[in-house]
Amino acid sequence: MRNKILAANWKMNLNFAEVIKWRQVFLSQTWDASGKELRIYPSSIYIESLNELSHVGAQNFYFEDNGAYTGEISLAQLQSIGAKSVIIGHSERRTLFHEDKQLITRKVNACVTANTAFILCCGEAENIRKEGAHLRFIQEQLTTALHAFAQEKLHLLTIAYEPIWAIGTGLTASSSQISEMHQAIRNLLLELYGESAHFIPILYGGSVTPENAKEIFSCAEVGGALVGGASLDPKIFHQIWEQL
Ligand code: PGA
Repeated sequence: MRNKILAANWKMNLNFAEVIKWRQVFLSQTWDASGKELRIYPSSIYIESLNELSHVGAQNFYFEDNGAYTGEISLAQLQSIGAKSVIIGHSERRTLFHEDKQLITRKVNACVTANTAFILCCGEAENIRKEGAHLRFIQEQLTTALHAFAQEKLHLLTIAYEPIWAIGTGLTASSSQISEMHQAIRNLLLELYGESAHFIPILYGGSVTPENAKEIFSCAEVGGALVGGASLDPKIFHQIWEQL
């Protein structure tokens, strides 16, 4: 049995004083972790001050090891301050920062070389779903990102399905939409990697809250969640954790 994962994606939120407060409230609660894994993806400047709490990772990195890349952070640098994993292919990076398929594949390959775990995000825009092309679109996104990813490295991989129209909007995909997509992703992974693909966690993301978490976690093939807005308050995040 694989552990369920609840991951907080703070995005570009919280100043240092707020992080210290978050940490205090977090520590005042009980996070019983049997069969579950908690992860925090803060802005990279806070990784060091959080990494004794749980698994802490980075929202972004650059695929080169070092060199003249002003403003960028490498995997080796992140690992040196305790980052345990990274997020790749979040839709905000694809759209706002123009990360294309080629860059995403390079990032996947960099994780393989550095033996670093990663969450690979995928998700369709509203118009693609309206056209009924969502399954094909996600299949293409994942196949492209993983085309050079070998079976021996499966332990590094977590997938997060995050429909763009549900991120930060308060709209959540319905149970049947989530189950359909997660099942399709599982089938694709089984096709690509055989039976061992059953162990790859597939998370859902997009306006997960304490109110809808139970229903989402009961959907077929949902192995946890990547949570943005509702992870900024540790009490609310804890309510989601309790339902995982
Ligand atoms: P949200 O963000 O929970 O605020 O919708 C999820 C994400 O983008 O990872």
